[in-house]
Amino acid sequence: MRIYLIGYMGSGKSTMGRGLAKNLGLSFVDMDQYIEKRNFKTIPQIFADSGEEGFRRLEQKALIELSDFENIIIATGGGAPCFFENMKLIKNTGKSIYLKATPRILAQRLVDSKVERPLIKGKNFEELTEFIHNTLALREEWYAQADFILEFDTDLTDEEVLVKFHKAFGLS
Ligand code: S3P
Repeated sequence: MRIYLIGYMGSGKSTMGRGLAKNLGLSFVDMDQYIEKRNFKTIPQIFADSGEEGFRRLEQKALIELSDFENIIIATGGGAPCFFENMKLIKNTGKSIYLKATPRILAQRLVDSKVERPLIKGKNFEELTEFIHNTLALREEWYAQADFILEFDTDLTDEEVLVKFHKAFGLS
């Protein structure tokens, strides 16, 4: 069993992944944290030292390594499925869930978030909403290939999410 959570920054992949892993008795890995540990640098440091291009190479390498892990839920970085052949690898090695939310919901969560994200640094709510709107339109092509799409235009309780998830994957 290997489950990939994919979706835009701020869509709740890590929070949801941790909860699901606990409920299903699986391990959990946050890909950004894995990249940071493997490279002894934070994500902002990697962007500062090697640019987005360098980060994408390390991200691809991390994904290849993680695609060997068993009984695991992997919260991928927001851009991970959208570069190289990464989405192909995700589809070939596990089940994927796209956590889908509107630009406004994502922008609000990102404004409230404490995590430093180089791609959106310094943007206010309006700028963020516009940026998300534009980049999400490009990324949707990859996200939409997920095996299962969970929409967050309404608030679901953890319990409701879990019921949806169990049904989608035929788990008891
Ligand atoms: C990125 C998302 C981030 C992180 C990096 C780039 C992106 O992960 O990988 O800052 O391109 O969307 P989260 O989705 O966990 O914020």
